[in-house]
Amino acid sequence: MTFEEEIKTALPRKALERWKNVTLLESVDSTNNFLKNMAGKGIAPYGHCVIADFQSSGRGRLGRSFSSPRGKGIYLSYLMSSHGIPIESMATITAYVAVCVREAIFEVCGIEAGIKWVNDIVYGGKKICGILTETSRGESSGIIIGIGVNVNHVPEDFPSELSDIATSLKMISGKEHSRGLLCSAIIKKLDTLCSAFPSDKDYYLSEYRKHCDVSGKRVRVIKDGEERLGTAVGISDDFGFIADFDDGRRETLTAGEVSVRGFYGYI
Ligand code: BTN
Repeated sequence: MTFEEEIKTALPRKALERWKNVTLLESVDSTNNFLKNMAGKGIAPYGHCVIADFQSSGRGRLGRSFSSPRGKGIYLSYLMSSHGIPIESMATITAYVAVCVREAIFEVCGIEAGIKWVNDIVYGGKKICGILTETSRGESSGIIIGIGVNVNHVPEDFPSELSDIATSLKMISGKEHSRGLLCSAIIKKLDTLCSAFPSDKDYYLSEYRKHCDVSGKRVRVIKDGEERLGTAVGISDDFGFIADFDDGRRETLTAGEVSVRGFYGYI
């Protein structure tokens, strides 16, 4: 079966109309790069998605790579219009997307995952999904929402350095999940998000806070190569991370170049 056949096989007929606005690739360096290129040339309308079966150079936040083995995960990029959206809203969009993906995972796979500030979906202290939101310039300038989900991976599919910090939906539930159905559910939620943004903030913020339960946890904050210890207080109204540092200072961190780690392990 080709990737396209596998992805579309479980989809109900009425969902297929939306897939005319999706590019499916057997292989690519990064779906974010591919869609950025299409948008730059003006050949991708808003709402267009690029989904690949394999990425040779999947990218994550802070210049990290995103492991993207063939036939296992969802590697999806979505083009959102940036019209009227200030650059400061990028972190908010990433947070809204985390809420959408978490919900799609629950609806399709029945797994109640959590959110790790700012852009990861997690379960049992391990990462299931990462989100990378970038801007694109050119003909149809916009926002590229990149989503990588570990779906049907078995432990051997992860490089050894990820074995303690990453998991997959299959490893959690013990069964395979349809990448097509999960892609479809994610795209539907992103369509709703993009047509209404920035509306429904109260809803997204309360869902984000409910599932990103940081309050009271010891954290290690890494910024500009410097590490500080503190205790998490909560999520601010702008999706910032509020921490009380051990030197007595309270700060609200914005996504930018900050990485927050649990005192013990990944979370
Ligand atoms: C992170 O973990 O920091 C974010 C990971 C984002 C990975 C996705 S996979 C689809 C899209 N293409 C990429 O190169 N990255 C994103």
